[in-house]
Amino acid sequence: MRLTDQVAIITGAGVGIGKAVALRYAAEGARVVVAEIDTLTGRATADAIHAAHGEALFVRTDVAEEKDVRAMVEATLGQYGRIDILVNNAAVLMYGRDTRLHEVSSEVWERTLAVNLHGHFLCAKYVLPVMLQQERGCIINLASPTGLRGYENLTAYSSSKGAIAALTRAMAADYSRHNIRVNAIVPGTIDTPMNALELSDEKMRQKLIAMAPSGRLGTADDISRLAVFLASDDAAYCAGGFYPADGGLMAV
Ligand SMILES: NC(=O)c1ccc[n+]([C@@H]2O[C@H](COP(=O)([O-])OP(=O)(O)OC[C@H]3O[C@@H](n4cnc5c(N)ncnc54)[C@H](O)[C@@H]3O)[C@@H](O)[C@H]2O)c1
Repeated sequence: MRLTDQVAIITGAGVGIGKAVALRYAAEGARVVVAEIDTLTGRATADAIHAAHGEALFVRTDVAEEKDVRAMVEATLGQYGRIDILVNNAAVLMYGRDTRLHEVSSEVWERTLAVNLHGHFLCAKYVLPVMLQQERGCIINLASPTGLRGYENLTAYSSSKGAIAALTRAMAADYSRHNIRVNAIVPGTIDTPMNALELSDEKMRQKLIAMAPSGRLGTADDISRLAVFLASDDAAYCAGGFYPADGGLMAV
């Protein structure tokens, strides 16, 4: 096992990529904190880990709410006494409402930035003092090709993900010397609930499949395997990096 006794907070671990990372981390021996806004799915992830004889704690958390994040970090320390890994995964994509800039409502813009950017900021803000004290830690941010290239009809989401790229570099510059490794995963099009609406349109599904040279959509598990590597000692010299798992999408 590659993460034995590591304490890992995973935000948005109720479904999709976050859930896959939570299950795989637990299988690799980590003690997993499921920080999820949705009680039903968050509990279900923790229950699945327990059923597999793993260790997990569900803490209902809206990552955009400072008091929730503070309480989640306190609950983690109360239960496990340390924090080794933070996976900043929770995000929203308001498909159909996040369009061209002049059509995007302030509500869509503000909530997208609140969860996708401010949420990353808040979780890191409360976890970093713990990691600094431990002189050890690993933070994985979830970036996106939409933040690195121009995509149509995704103004708020793309902006939030572009900011995650900058945030990852800034964090790596400040914390690598403290033995806290900060990296970003850049998933391609992954078959998760986030894309369910878009992928339910067969023409759109085929278009998205064709965009990646690998000729298929990614799975949440394609990402969870990379997340294990980045959190493990195998990635000891990896800091400030952007790691695509995208079937070649960004290469063409
Ligand atoms: N799926 C893709 O194709 C893809 C591509 C690139 C990047 N990403 C990124 O990967 C990450 C995971 O994506 P996914 O496809 O699994 O998403 P998803 O929508 O399937 O799951 C997101 C999870 O986050 C939770 N969540 C939403 N708002 C929250 C909040 N305020 N506080 C706590 N939890 C909250 C949701 O309840 C859900 O469980 C996101 O950061 C996303 O931007 C996904």
